[in-house]
Amino acid sequence: MKKITLTTDAIHQGDLILVNPAHGLKAETQERLIPILESAPSVLLQERAAQALERLMAAIDGWQGIAPVSGWRSFQEQNQIWDSTVRESGLEFTKKYVAVPGHSEHQTGLAIDLGLRQEHIDFICPDFPDIGICQTFREQAAAHGFILRYPAGKETVTGIAHEPWHFRYVGVPHATFMARAGLTLEEYLCLLRQYPYGGPPLETWEAEKEYRIHHIKAPAGITLELSETKGHSVSGDNVDGFILTEWRKSDAQ
Ligand code: DAL
Ligand code: ZN
Repeated sequence: MKKITLTTDAIHQGDLILVNPAHGLKAETQERLIPILESAPSVLLQERAAQALERLMAAIDGWQGIAPVSGWRSFQEQNQIWDSTVRESGLEFTKKYVAVPGHSEHQTGLAIDLGLRQEHIDFICPDFPDIGICQTFREQAAAHGFILRYPAGKETVTGIAHEPWHFRYVGVPHATFMARAGLTLEEYLCLLRQYPYGGPPLETWEAEKEYRIHHIKAPAGITLELSETKGHSVSGDNVDGFILTEWRKSDAQ
């Protein structure tokens, strides 16, 4: 048995943290951030997300037709974007397409805006059409751990307008489950509460790998005893608990 202790701080860290109008970030991310592309050194993501994006882009030769637009943002940068968008396009537009500073997924280093490579790329609403290389990216995204975070028809759930260009890294088993079930991150985390630790898990498969997923509502300092024969990852949900993902050791995550 392997013991891991979940601290209160860890509720606000990990690939599955919910950052939305109701749940802001508690602090600037402490995770290591790296450039996603040599030719765009200022576009940063958390290392795991950057590596997953690199694999996805390599698989579809994506950088030929797709440009990186915006990755990690500091609170200060999100604030500047909010202010300049209000000035240039008004408050109503800004509320639809720019998260309130402190509530942007970009501040996590897990979200990326991408645009069709062309002469003019709009920074707030880049083109990312549902044809060609952009559509190929969209179709392959989940298999590499990314979800389209703000889909059409879910505006009242996410609090943000349809953003075909904004992708969020959540990890492969979660992204593929959400894509198949048509769930937003809000809806998925709500579903996971039906699988509390100690009871039956949510079971999901991807590329013949089986994953078992539980929600853990966290009293501070809870200790888990996990089997040595299984791999596991734990993410906070940024609300009140954790998501535990387990898989057989012979399977990669
Ligand atoms: N465009 C997204 C909602 C952001 O500003 O984080
Ligand atoms: Zn974005």
